[in-house]
Amino acid sequence: MYQVYPRSFADSNDDGFGDLPGLIDKLDYLNDGTERSLGIDAIWLSPIHPSPGFDVGYDVADYDAIDPIFGTLDDFGRLVAEAHRRGIRLMLDLVMNHTSSEHGWFEQSRRDPNGAYGDWYLWRDGRRGRFGRRIPPNNWSSFFGGSAWTWDEVRGQYYLHTFLPEQPDVNWRNPAVREAMLTMVRGWLERGVDGFRLDVFNAFFKDADLRSNPRRYRGRRPYDRQVHLYDKDQPELVDFLAEFRALVDSFPGSMTVGELFSSDPIGAVRLSAPRHLVFDWWLIKTPWKAPSFVRASQMREAMFRESGWPTVVLGNHDQSRLASRLAPRADATTSDEVARAAAVLSLSLRGTPFLYYGEEIGARDVAVTWEEIIDPPARRGGRLVRRLVPWWNRDQARSPMPWGRGGPNGGFTAGRPWLRMAPDVDTRNVAVQDDDSGSVLNAYRRLLWLRRRHPAMQVGTYRHVPTRTPDVYVYERATDDETIIVAVNFAAKERSFGIRTSRRWRTLFDTHAPDGAASREISAGGELTLQPRQAVILLGA
Ligand code: GLC
Repeated sequence: MYQVYPRSFADSNDDGFGDLPGLIDKLDYLNDGTERSLGIDAIWLSPIHPSPGFDVGYDVADYDAIDPIFGTLDDFGRLVAEAHRRGIRLMLDLVMNHTSSEHGWFEQSRRDPNGAYGDWYLWRDGRRGRFGRRIPPNNWSSFFGGSAWTWDEVRGQYYLHTFLPEQPDVNWRNPAVREAMLTMVRGWLERGVDGFRLDVFNAFFKDADLRSNPRRYRGRRPYDRQVHLYDKDQPELVDFLAEFRALVDSFPGSMTVGELFSSDPIGAVRLSAPRHLVFDWWLIKTPWKAPSFVRASQMREAMFRESGWPTVVLGNHDQSRLASRLAPRADATTSDEVARAAAVLSLSLRGTPFLYYGEEIGARDVAVTWEEIIDPPARRGGRLVRRLVPWWNRDQARSPMPWGRGGPNGGFTAGRPWLRMAPDVDTRNVAVQDDDSGSVLNAYRRLLWLRRRHPAMQVGTYRHVPTRTPDVYVYERATDDETIIVAVNFAAKERSFGIRTSRRWRTLFDTHAPDGAASREISAGGELTLQPRQAVILLGA
């Protein structure tokens, strides 16, 4: 799965925003059926619907249309057809916990409490506090800071928003809302979409009585200082998922992935089902240390067991770029070594890998000055209250893709990019990495095509292989027909270790020998030496 953040991917009309025709032009880059292309199977497209942009698209004003900055419904039809022609599946991002406050449903709901949309959002009168002051109906806080309730002068009531005030939560207990959402979902399936990513799906249902959450005394942000008993993870979700998934499953070959919002990772197992995955965030939170990755994988294997199917996620539009996170302050060479080793993990651990655009060229976070911040919670935090609402500015991981076909802005646009480009676009871009057999891009390409040819990399069982050095992580993936061993040296020093085995092994992939991957042979009881941050995949004879 390849996540496209549409504003930043490819700009066809030089207005500074990526768009659908731009994406269509890059489909061959993603997969043209040959090993010259990246070789992904499916695209997850972050929201493309009309939106005032308070949460950069995650505030939808019309689920049935395409935001004009991205193109038209015809462009979308072309995207589906062109993707399918190349065997690429297309997955949309469904933001159904909330709409934009500019959605027609909300406009009508706030104007007419007794009208058809009156009960489509969570409206309440509020309470009376000290000195008769009006206070919100309960203590829930917004994930983006402040109370989760905002007073609406038009309706004369409070409404709930788990995120920004411009993102009112819909009332999932209202059958009319449910029906409208499912009709919309069916519409996109009929347009040929192959699946969906469900934004914060475990937050859809809230406690029927909207009880206040118990307090916690630890936590950095006010949101963390509550036990979120009542504002998410309600049992009613299971029922809705069954209905939603039955609809998706009636279009064969479809799948979904749910975004588990701020919850116990076991929820990822409980809420997943065949063809319906759920993100868990273990790996994205794991520091670049072999024992940490060993532990994270062990936890995931214990949770999902052999019958469950996890996702493998090292980056997305909400998190620091993987190279910056795993190799902070590293020079470009070290950063790329870590990125290549991470690529090996990402494409050979058990589960469906999700690759965030730009990770394939080893992109790093791009510092954005205070004046240029777009990410709403980062702006909202403000310079002075930063300490109260500490929020990592997500713009840093969303900078436009440098294609390097010449011209300004790394070939992304001849106009002014909507967000600052990385400072190294002239040296780190697709064209430059295309020509370099040792680049991060070529590592991803080789790994993705190898993964196609070797079922053990995809569906093999997982077994941790202990070694005497704590700096390397070694594991085996096996099917009835083949066994591979993956070994990653996390250290900045050379490491040697033995593999206890009666087989002979040959190298399938080596981050440090891109051209002569099959060069190494290891026989029974042999020692393997890995250079700093080297990762290899071995195939058992
Ligand atoms: C999800 C999205 C994030 C967005 C939030 C609110 O977590 O990934 O980008 O801000 O939902 O919609």
